[in-house]
Amino acid sequence: LFSGRVDFLLSAPELKFLPEPDFPEVAFAGRSNVGKSSLLNAITGRRSIARASVTPGRTQELNFFEVGEPTLFRLVDMPGYGFAKAPVKVVERWKKLVRSFLRGRVVLKRTMLLIDSRHGVKPVDEEMMTMLDESAVGYRIVMTKADKIKASELAETAELVRAAARKHPAAYPEIQITSSEKKMGIDELRAALLEDISH
Ligand code: GTP
Ligand code: MG
Repeated sequence: LFSGRVDFLLSAPELKFLPEPDFPEVAFAGRSNVGKSSLLNAITGRRSIARASVTPGRTQELNFFEVGEPTLFRLVDMPGYGFAKAPVKVVERWKKLVRSFLRGRVVLKRTMLLIDSRHGVKPVDEEMMTMLDESAVGYRIVMTKADKIKASELAETAELVRAAARKHPAAYPEIQITSSEKKMGIDELRAALLEDISH
């Protein structure tokens, strides 16, 4: 399925630019630079369907991708948060866009919340999890860049992330551990995603 059609559809800087809610959607959220675009590329087996950048805060809009021929579902690359240098106005705009999308998007089946394996759950992630708890959909926590740290540290951080997840009603208790670089945990994430969109 993922080796078939995957196309960039559109970029929505505001809610009025959202595509018609015609297909099930799965959204990817996380701090700037956490690896959202890279993970989307890994899942779809493309090198650069979602632009991966070295400049944090690059993705400022909701970016929609369509999968399948004919279209079966959409993937949504959400703008990253927690960028230290972001002006208050930008943060406010982000909150409004993301909150209304999460609350009002009827076709949104699941959100994947990405957490950097090196950093674990930061206060901004806690805020995001609370926002997600208040939205209509459950979310999976996906640890990214697992190749960047030692297995022992990874296990420790994973345990802390699980503990954080348990405190949030809408978070899945099981977490996914991935590396886009080493293609680790990608098949498992694809399977989870396909299960999510078929419900
Ligand atoms: P914004 O769109 O700016 O919010 O960032 P993003 O969350 O989309 O992150 P992006 O995918 O652009 O990745 C940020 C940086 O981390 C890039 O330099 C990637 O090459 C790197 N990166 C992403 N995933 C991995 C991974 O699994 N392993 C390693 N080692 N590096 C990764
Ligand atoms: Mg990105």
